[in-house]
Amino acid sequence: MLTLVSTSERGVIVDLDGRVVELSWTWLRDHATDAESYLISAQQRVVTPQTIAAAGVGDAVVSSAGLEVSWPGGPTTVFDVDALSALAAPAESVRVGVEPEPWTRATLTDRLQRIDFVEFVGGVDGLRTGVDHLWRDGLIALTGVPLDTRSTRAVLERIGYIRSTIFGDLWEFRSDGGFDDTASTPLEITPHTDGTYSHDAPGLLGLHCHLYEATGGENVFVDSTTIANRLSSESHRVLSTVDIPGRYIGDGAHLMAKRPVLRYEGNRLVQVSYNHHDRAPFVLPEPVMGEVYAALFEFDALANNADLQLEVELRPGEMVIFDNWRVLHGRRAFSGERLIAGGYVNREDFESTTRLIT
Ligand SMILES: [Fe+2]
Repeated sequence: MLTLVSTSERGVIVDLDGRVVELSWTWLRDHATDAESYLISAQQRVVTPQTIAAAGVGDAVVSSAGLEVSWPGGPTTVFDVDALSALAAPAESVRVGVEPEPWTRATLTDRLQRIDFVEFVGGVDGLRTGVDHLWRDGLIALTGVPLDTRSTRAVLERIGYIRSTIFGDLWEFRSDGGFDDTASTPLEITPHTDGTYSHDAPGLLGLHCHLYEATGGENVFVDSTTIANRLSSESHRVLSTVDIPGRYIGDGAHLMAKRPVLRYEGNRLVQVSYNHHDRAPFVLPEPVMGEVYAALFEFDALANNADLQLEVELRPGEMVIFDNWRVLHGRRAFSGERLIAGGYVNREDFESTTRLIT
């Protein structure tokens, strides 16, 4: 339901399904979708900034088609109610995917979503189930994945193209020191996110077990939204405001990036970045440095609290996919042979697939 409440030199005030919104003539000109202003086939704006700036005061009426706006010497554009509601939606209401549900070891153990390989790569329902649970829990498991990298690739490419990094696009980890990284050893790896040294950390990470003739090596996952909820307010303040640098030196690269451990957009926690091993040397004036250490140690203690850690014993043919912007991952020490193939999908490609299938 659209009602024109008033017009003035500034713009219009409209009632959109009970929500009263003021929209300036400039905003309306900027969002015009007539053929002169907008290339519908590409959904791209073609009106120039100069034209928008010079648009001046328009005229608006409500018709059965929606809000019709015209400018002297300019086009007439029609905003239908649904289009106008979507264009003028409050930023905090726009989200991709279902709401996250924070979890602990006790709450996720029973509800971890397992999907068969054929369902996931072959049907939209399997993909939709997987994507929904990736947003809800940040983690899903796949079963029956054939033991070859073609199948690892097929699973990840069902969501988005595979990101190429210093490790290649798809990589395989054995405990043979193949990369200059702790993942290439049988040592325990404590919970962390990947890519703290990247300005655009990988969005999803998939790990596919091809071979397991070993003892130990369980994969460990921790929901960082649960950690954020349990941190003291002081640690929460520090970790959401102080940039922590990460770096990767090796394999012919020297990568560095920095951001807060907890990155918020408004009240929404949108990205967690934590890797003790990859933290770059840095110093801040005391007492801030001491506050940072206290906050990092509190975060790390929660990440290593067994009550928050979901353990998954990956066996040949099993695969996990998880949200690297939310879920920390680690691995217990092991002895023997273990071969894991993996790869990354960028965040925006995961979001794109979500928008296209829901
Ligand atoms: Fe990792």
